[in-house]
Amino acid sequence: RTLNWNPVLVEKQGFKHYMLKEIYEQPGVVRTCLEYYLRDDWRPDADFSPIKLNLSPALLADLEQVQILACGTSWHAGLVGKYLLEDLAQIPTSVQYASEFRYAPPPVTRQTLTIGVTQSGETADTLAALELELHRRANLRSELQPRLLGITNRPESSLGHLVSEIIDTHAGIEIGVAATKTFVAQLLAFYLLALDLAWQRQTLDHSRLGAIIDQLRQLPAQVEQILESQERYIETLSHDFADTQDFIFLGRGINFPIALEGALKLKEISYIHAEGYPAGEMKHGPIALLDAKVPVVTIAMPGIVFEKVLSNAQEARARDARLIGVTPMEEQEARDTFDALLPVPEVDELLSPILTVIPLQLLAYHIAARRGLDVDQPRNLAKSVTVE
Ligand code: G6P
Repeated sequence: RTLNWNPVLVEKQGFKHYMLKEIYEQPGVVRTCLEYYLRDDWRPDADFSPIKLNLSPALLADLEQVQILACGTSWHAGLVGKYLLEDLAQIPTSVQYASEFRYAPPPVTRQTLTIGVTQSGETADTLAALELELHRRANLRSELQPRLLGITNRPESSLGHLVSEIIDTHAGIEIGVAATKTFVAQLLAFYLLALDLAWQRQTLDHSRLGAIIDQLRQLPAQVEQILESQERYIETLSHDFADTQDFIFLGRGINFPIALEGALKLKEISYIHAEGYPAGEMKHGPIALLDAKVPVVTIAMPGIVFEKVLSNAQEARARDARLIGVTPMEEQEARDTFDALLPVPEVDELLSPILTVIPLQLLAYHIAARRGLDVDQPRNLAKSVTVE
């Protein structure tokens, strides 16, 4: 009797591609990261932080600024991080492409935390930007001394040797070139860092802090729910886009970076031209591209800009664009606005990026798979770019 098994499929645990397997690992990745870093014994009246990141106190003390350096998908995680650090911990934050920073760094500022975000820990531009920051500060006054932090799932990488402080996202190795689970884990690292800083700096009242933590704990089940309820529908929907040449992704506020990430995922693996835009900017250019051949994917989560985003989407409809909405099922107005819905649970807008990115990953995956492309190893791309 011969055993009929395929070693590659075994490694992929029955999934057709690593990317899909890694998309499905996300509930577990979120759960694991929370288990590592949330204190179970914390209560809103506790006199200790709810988060245990094991960073040295000097790294985070009296910060005046944060600067985030990264490339690609990790840069998008940094953009979400900026919203979190500014909103929760009230720290002015800038996000720079590492490849830009290394040749045009901004002036050195006081009490600045520099965060390098990289899933591989090997991206040449990110490492070079961090090294530059280290060296240019090394001989300066004490309040200008370097404070470097890495966010990665590979603490044993070159990044781990370069910086002394790391948040290990515990996402494990990612094989698909298009980052999925490592992105979600980087987002989580920023929630944890921002909440820890908010606690230290007393910028959030403890009941709000407790409410956010309760909601973080619900994320694994909510990610699971999106995967279970939507994958088949998104696979069917993807048939409509086999010949589409352009896509627009719109979002605002904390979901603007998710629009960028949705567009990047699609570009990377399906080779469809896609642009992410802040929805309010659409009228300043991209609206000229719209017609019945350009689908518009809009992230519309209840919150401060919800109505605005819906009206931005309606402007696109007036140009005959097909509208796809990432939005909670409960919202009647959103249901009336979009031609196709990719529903996500209704959550605090601040927490929503971890959910809104999931349908966009599935959409990119299924469009590329439908086109018969090599999803795990797209042309011209590498998992880690170790040259400039
Ligand atoms: C490459 C990959 C991207 C990734 C980027 C940054 O371009 O194809 O998926 O986002 O590098 O990688 P890093 O390892 O630094 O996060």
